[in-house]
Amino acid sequence: MQKVKVGIIGAGGISTVHLPPLKERLDEVELVAAADVNPAAKALVDKYGIPNFVSDYRQILPLVDAVLINVPTHLHAQMTIKALKADKHVFLEKPMTRTMEEANAVAAAAAESKGQLQIGFVRRFDDEWEGFRQAILAGELGRPVTWRHVATSSGPDIRWFTEDQQGGGPFLDGAIHNYDFGMYTFGPVEWVFAHLRTINPNHTAFDTGTATVHFESGDELMVAWTWGVPAGSQGGGCFDFLGPRGTLLPKADLSLDAAKAQFTIYQGKESRIVESPRRALDIGYKRQMNEFVDVALGKTKPRAGIREGLDSMRVSLAILQSGKTGNKVYLSEIR
Ligand SMILES: NC(=O)c1ccc[n+]([C@@H]2O[C@H](COP(=O)([O-])OP(=O)(O)OC[C@H]3O[C@@H](n4cnc5c(N)ncnc54)[C@H](O)[C@@H]3O)[C@@H](O)[C@H]2O)c1
Repeated sequence: MQKVKVGIIGAGGISTVHLPPLKERLDEVELVAAADVNPAAKALVDKYGIPNFVSDYRQILPLVDAVLINVPTHLHAQMTIKALKADKHVFLEKPMTRTMEEANAVAAAAAESKGQLQIGFVRRFDDEWEGFRQAILAGELGRPVTWRHVATSSGPDIRWFTEDQQGGGPFLDGAIHNYDFGMYTFGPVEWVFAHLRTINPNHTAFDTGTATVHFESGDELMVAWTWGVPAGSQGGGCFDFLGPRGTLLPKADLSLDAAKAQFTIYQGKESRIVESPRRALDIGYKRQMNEFVDVALGKTKPRAGIREGLDSMRVSLAILQSGKTGNKVYLSEIR
């Protein structure tokens, strides 16, 4: 059988997550080339026996059928467009791009390409989050649902993530998983409202604040995150779903069965425990890469592609715009 030739652009943090599942498919995949501007990235490339390591990503395109683009967000557009124009299948890490203009250019290139575009929305492969979604869609909490996510951290210890024009900060980078999963569950977004600020003087992006995402269905997502506190400082967190019939709450108590995670659905004084796999996110990363290989082999289409990439960008950029202006932003304003 002809193997699919895979290349990797950017061999940093997330590539350490994507390479192991690709290695498990070596009967169908040949890892042929990697590009990274940092010579130190060669260590990871060598670990996976990838024979070609270059600094200029354009050199690997002629060698591959499919490519992973795992570089800082502001570099996504130029590389993805080049790869799609060369008819390569592309796995592009989220967020699709830094700006809407770039996202539209990527979407146009994808529409013209013989290659497929897959966006890295790993939560769509996460059986624990899928369990939340199924409970909500089955009406166990009633509707409308309010999904609250409060998180405190210093953010990734890599500068570009919190540079406004590069990573765009947590309300573009990390929280985009929530926006995408929210749309996957609740449908289109109608408007957003955000109060955002920058509390770490070394950051240029908004690193702290609260964003409300209002779906056309009436459901809402509230994201109150910071990536602005000093490393090591502990802070509060919250992750739950509320509705008129009850609540859904993930539980850390794994004492019943160490192999399972669990969440609880409360309907007043009644409650029900739902089990899901532990390490569901890790399993999700693996399933996401398996889909990428299957897409490259022509066996399936990406479950998150052009549409999902664009929709999530529009929500993220609406939130950043609301953070700047202090106004509610309707999604119809973001093109
Ligand atoms: N889905 C997830 O859960 C998840 C998690 C982490 C990161 N990400 C996304 O993955 C992407 C990469 O993040 P990361 O954590 O791996 O970042 P990183 O900084 O750890 O790695 C990025 C790599 O790209 C390389 N690079 C920079 N410029 C380059 C260029 N011009 N050509 C080739 N290589 C270049 C860097 O040297 C570095 O090795 C980002 O879009 C990020 O948002 C997704």
